[in-house]
Amino acid sequence: MKAKAFKIADGVYWVGVIHWNSRTFHGYGIPGTTYNAYLVFGEEKNVLIDNVYRGLFDQFDARVKDAFEQEGKEFKIDVFVQNHSEMDHSTFLRDTIAKYNPDAEIYASQNCINFLEAQYHNFSDLELNAVNTGDELDIGGRTLKFISAPMLHWPDSMFTFLAEDGILFSNDAFGQHLCHSKRFDRDYPLEYVLGEAQKYYANLVTLGSPMFRMKLQELTDNGILDEIKMIAPCHGQIWTNPAPIVEKYSEWASGVCKDKITVIYDTMHHSTEKLAFQIAEGIMSEGVEVKMYFMQEDGPDDVITDILDSKAIAIGAPTMMNKPFPRIGNMMYWLDCVNFKGTGSEKNALIFSSKGWGGGAVDKLQKDLESAGFNVTDTMDILFVPDEDMLAEAFEKGAELARSIKE
Ligand code: FEO
Repeated sequence: MKAKAFKIADGVYWVGVIHWNSRTFHGYGIPGTTYNAYLVFGEEKNVLIDNVYRGLFDQFDARVKDAFEQEGKEFKIDVFVQNHSEMDHSTFLRDTIAKYNPDAEIYASQNCINFLEAQYHNFSDLELNAVNTGDELDIGGRTLKFISAPMLHWPDSMFTFLAEDGILFSNDAFGQHLCHSKRFDRDYPLEYVLGEAQKYYANLVTLGSPMFRMKLQELTDNGILDEIKMIAPCHGQIWTNPAPIVEKYSEWASGVCKDKITVIYDTMHHSTEKLAFQIAEGIMSEGVEVKMYFMQEDGPDDVITDILDSKAIAIGAPTMMNKPFPRIGNMMYWLDCVNFKGTGSEKNALIFSSKGWGGGAVDKLQKDLESAGFNVTDTMDILFVPDEDMLAEAFEKGAELARSIKE
């Protein structure tokens, strides 16, 4: 097959693949994605940074070869750098080494080396060089600086900084699950790309927020942050203007939130729904933004994305068999996994429910929300269908929740 490499700087090419028809990843919906790999030409060594996912080798192979044609150089890869071992970036690494150059030098974190063997069981015959922050590789006129980045988003994650060009190959960090024909951030509206980066951060990186804050401080202290001119992640658009995404990551990792409340509900016979809508009216009456999610139709990934920069949530479920309606239970599982508390934000929560007789949803949600790091400030548990007084109470509870985040 034929596929063109895309030049991102002199002697630096994107040689990744476009997965046009991928619709889920890590359990959440995506509009396709890209697995970005990069080829760096040095005066002495040519370096392939990262690899791609199953089923897409021919596209990758064609692009790598095209980069050599564009550069007018004889095909020869001297160095493989693997920033992370997850399969979407490593599926063909072993085959690629065998095919391109079995004698190449290979660099990765020690965790990455361990994880590659545990996933593929065919790396033990190779000599892989473990690198850490402070290690460098001279490739002839160019220097690769390795930067450990554990939990951004796996323990093995690493950044590689091409010092002379100021390009940070950040692997998953700063990525977005986007699938477009053009490669740069500036090819699409900035708010759109940042919005997809928020979804990616919320669902995949939130847990590593404390590590990101430490990494940002380290990059600031050692002067690298000021030297970054481009961030080339392993998914989505390449940041030719790194400042907005670095600023956003800094905010998301530090619990900076908007005057915004995410309302999440499911309903059996529309009673909990009536409460949800009244609570939203109450929030809006205080001039606070509302995002509304109905879990029969909406995905937890979008809910997580909006909760990231919300100061509070209101979550409602009817009681069924003494517990919250199951789709809300699924939502709670996600909230517990993601752990927003690590960002440092203390999010208030209002719980609301309609029950037929004994109830149980509110108690279970309160326990689970507190365990997930939320500050439950109020609850509302009504019998069957809300009357006008109950609707007025729901309105007031929404307004009170809004006032609580403005204090
Ligand atoms: Fe895109 Fe952790 O893999």
